[in-house]
Amino acid sequence: MRILSGIQPSGKLHLGNYFGMMRPALRLQEKGDAFLFIANYHALTTVDDPAQLRQGTLDVAIDFLACGLDPARAVFFRQSDVPEVHELAWLLSTVTPVGLLERCHSYKDKLAKGFAPSHALFAYPVLMAADILIYQSNLVPVGRDQKQHVEVTRDIAIKFNNQFGPVFTIPEPVIAEEVAVVPGLDGQKMSKSYGNTIELFGDLKETRSRIMKIVTDSTPLEAPKNPDACTIFALYKLFVGEAERDALAQLYRAGGMGYGHAKKALFEAFEATFAPLRKRRDALAADRGYVEGVLRLGAEKARAEARQTLDRARAAVGIA
Ligand code: ADP
Ligand code: TRP
Repeated sequence: MRILSGIQPSGKLHLGNYFGMMRPALRLQEKGDAFLFIANYHALTTVDDPAQLRQGTLDVAIDFLACGLDPARAVFFRQSDVPEVHELAWLLSTVTPVGLLERCHSYKDKLAKGFAPSHALFAYPVLMAADILIYQSNLVPVGRDQKQHVEVTRDIAIKFNNQFGPVFTIPEPVIAEEVAVVPGLDGQKMSKSYGNTIELFGDLKETRSRIMKIVTDSTPLEAPKNPDACTIFALYKLFVGEAERDALAQLYRAGGMGYGHAKKALFEAFEATFAPLRKRRDALAADRGYVEGVLRLGAEKARAEARQTLDRARAAVGIA
């Protein structure tokens, strides 16, 4: 069972990334043959500062390893170390209808946010399809906002297979439904472009003060509160087990608990998870040689697999 996912190095990783994609992908690495990569070619569609892209790529590598990526189990690499994906992306683009790409929400959202409509931004899903198909992936764990891209990948793969023969495995998206959309400080989807994130490895004081700023309603302290309508609770339950979740829900419903108390509980749950990971992160950040070695070895393994699929696709279309 091949499991594959990627993440763009386009900003500091936050709880939306962690619960939406990283944790599900890391859990799946126990169950199968996981390929995880840093999508730096994709990030180029929105990041135009070379130093930022370089640093962001290294940061994501360190963050992923700190969060439990096990290089003995998973193949971990930079997208740009497997240039074969571009050749495959071209072959795939010949069977990709423009209308399919025009319907992609992510493209429309980026234009709405003010990004210039470059060809790369438009063709983003085709490169993503190449990422997925070149490794014959079965499962693609992603947050809900990426589901459509995996569906586009399926459409492209089916079309190619019908036209040229069975070259690609048809992948399935895996969406962790209980965390499909992690809310940010303001209750909207947590996203770096909304400035409402809680970073995984940000400054601790800053993290605490951001948690204290989570927007709540104005139910008075003594009144009962609805945990299911509260952003603090939505985040808290991602960190803890059932017993702790139910205990806090009871406090909400009983009344007499202020949101400040819930925020404190959330900060403590955050720390219980991230304090040990932060330690690991510090050690990794001090050993760049190790991190680089992991990525190099990952790239070698990934490239060998990519080559095989590319050769089959080339032969299928009549190029080799
Ligand atoms: P951002 O919205 O901050 O730019 P990305 O688009 O880079 O985040 O997302 C990287 C991965 O993390 C994707 O798989 C995406 O689905 C997931 N993800 C990002 N934000 C959230 C969120 N708020 N809830 C669930 N998953 C998320
Ligand atoms: N588009 C994904 C995101 O923004 C990143 C990505 C690129 C990806 N290629 C992929 C995810 C292949 C899964 C599989 O989050």
